[in-house]
Amino acid sequence: MSTVYNVAILVGSLRKASINRKLAQALIALAPPSLQLEIVEIGELALYNEDIDGATPPPAYSTFRSRVKAADALLFVTPEYNRSMPAPMKNAIDVGSRPYGQNAFAGKPGAVLSASPGALGGFGAHHHLRQSLACLNVPMLPAPETYLGGAGHFFDDAGKLNENIQVVLQKFIDAFALWIAKQA
Ligand code: FNR
Repeated sequence: MSTVYNVAILVGSLRKASINRKLAQALIALAPPSLQLEIVEIGELALYNEDIDGATPPPAYSTFRSRVKAADALLFVTPEYNRSMPAPMKNAIDVGSRPYGQNAFAGKPGAVLSASPGALGGFGAHHHLRQSLACLNVPMLPAPETYLGGAGHFFDDAGKLNENIQVVLQKFIDAFALWIAKQA
């Protein structure tokens, strides 16, 4: 039987109608059979504070860390806020990285896809994410670099994804599947 890898998806936007959440759901649908993807929610994580992260951390911290640790790989799908990643995404990275010495992300292959209605496709957020994940020992998919600009037009009123973007997503998720298998 061939191996199936569990991939935890972190979505950087908390809003219900998020384009990035829709893209994450599209990636789930397009993934090859070797990947089992699931969104791990980050919206309930309290802002990271070492004072509350002692012997009894907040249950949301513990649940999040366990879900990340249980995953074989990590997929970050994010918009850009003020040329960086949105605060909930950075917060989730901070929570998962602690307590010191127990980094939940360590060694798991990762990939990032950024999308924005603007022209730059979240380039700034994308690279700030890569910067944080380098220090957390997450080997990131180098290519295809996927910055999706003009994302306000990706889905029609019925929620159907533009076919050209679907091709881009398919290439991305297939490359990620190969990357995960290579790191295993
Ligand atoms: C934005 N937006 C934005 N877009 C961008 O391309 N570069 C940026 O720096 C910013 N900055 C920014 C800051 C804040 C506080 C907000 C709320 C928004 C616009 C952003 O890309 C747009 O709202 C997306 O639709 C957000 O992604 P979701 O929620 O649709 O996934």
